[in-house]
Amino acid sequence: MPQRKLGRGVALVGAGMSKFGAFKGKSSRDLFVDAYQETLASVDKGFDPLAIEALYVGNYSSDLFEAQGHTAPILAEWTGLLPRPATRVEGACASASLALRQGIIAIASGLYDMVLVGGVEKMTDLPTEKVTDTLATAGDALYEIPAGFTFPGFYAAMATAYMHEYGASPETLMKVGFKNHENGALNEKAQFGQRIADIMESRKAGALKKGRPVPTWANEMDFLHDSSVNPFIAWPLRLFDCSPVSDGAAALLLVSEELARNFSDKPLYVAGSGHASDGALHGRTTLTSLPAVRHAARQAYEMAGVTPADIDIAEVHDCFTIAELLAVEDLGFFAPGQAWKAAEDGSMARSGAKPINTSGGLKSKGHPVGASGIGQVIEIWKQLRCEAGARQVNENLRLGLTHNVGGTGQTGVVHIFERR
Ligand code: COA
Repeated sequence: MPQRKLGRGVALVGAGMSKFGAFKGKSSRDLFVDAYQETLASVDKGFDPLAIEALYVGNYSSDLFEAQGHTAPILAEWTGLLPRPATRVEGACASASLALRQGIIAIASGLYDMVLVGGVEKMTDLPTEKVTDTLATAGDALYEIPAGFTFPGFYAAMATAYMHEYGASPETLMKVGFKNHENGALNEKAQFGQRIADIMESRKAGALKKGRPVPTWANEMDFLHDSSVNPFIAWPLRLFDCSPVSDGAAALLLVSEELARNFSDKPLYVAGSGHASDGALHGRTTLTSLPAVRHAARQAYEMAGVTPADIDIAEVHDCFTIAELLAVEDLGFFAPGQAWKAAEDGSMARSGAKPINTSGGLKSKGHPVGASGIGQVIEIWKQLRCEAGARQVNENLRLGLTHNVGGTGQTGVVHIFERR
């Protein structure tokens, strides 16, 4: 099927997010209002928020996490956008990217000129066991969940297969975590604003303060091999291979391309958008690639008229460290089986040839599942506009990509943004 172009161009002229983390006493409503206010303030030339014509919001499961369904009109009310149409979009951990895609389609169709798209999740009201059960509903409740699968379990199976097929080791996975924590330490919105070395040192300091024996870890690798601080969650994945349980929200203001310069002298343009679906993990012929991502990536590259080599920077869905390796192979940045070498040699670091997850990724920035896809776009917004501060890669970035996965890959969404 040939990839069609958008009916008319779409631009990003505003972006904002709440801090990601664990916020006792803050609901989805509060988090979304934080993101909305920052989005309004980010519009360079200012604008009247009442010009927003519709709202699309990604949310995986406020029903189970907060006992509150029917989220979208509530968020329209709390942002003062009533009676505008507000639609909740659900695609597990890819919910926000699907909300973005709905906003793009709405503007490209000519139905609206300006829409707010966002995502939100409030996960930390539930204990971890209940969060695990809630997330597991994004797997297959007929075949997989009764067999005992959880999300760490699914990705552990993928990690085991990848290591077996290609020779990567658990230490390779740890290096993905190192890098993403290094980046997250430079991101004031990140849940874990610390390098792994900093976490190690603070554990030593804590032990000293409490009069307990001070651990003698020689370095970060030694720390990560200590099961008392980095326990196995699902072999071979340990605590520091997992994204955390998070609260957070993120939002973007989209307008039709011809209006973009009324709002900003440096808008970003949607160059490509791809979305594909797949069956659950148990039915696949491979555990080391997500076909839906490959289809979505092909669509986005074709729409943008670019190749993987043209992409300057990407935010990919590292819900577990192994997921980052699968992502950069499925996106065509590295050949199958080669990404682990790139993780080892620093190619995906901020200073590397293909900077990946400069925000800290889901691993360090946090993973409020319904917000993550737009959280990724916000890093691309900052980097392409040269507003990423200490983690700015360089000033010549032109094309940025986001890669968001729902479930174990039943949903794959890829977007490409361009600075002109
Ligand atoms: N990485 C690093 N440290 C983490 C962490 C993570 N992912 N999650 C929690 N921690 C830290 C906490 O900060 C805390 O540190 P402290 O003792 O210094 O305060 C400590 O570990 C214990 O935190 P707690 O919240 O009790 O952890 P937990 O055991 O309840 O949960 C996981 C840990 C890994 C089980 C949980 O984060 C998880 O389920 N992650 C995966 C989420 C997921 O599947 N998302 C969807 C993906 S598709």
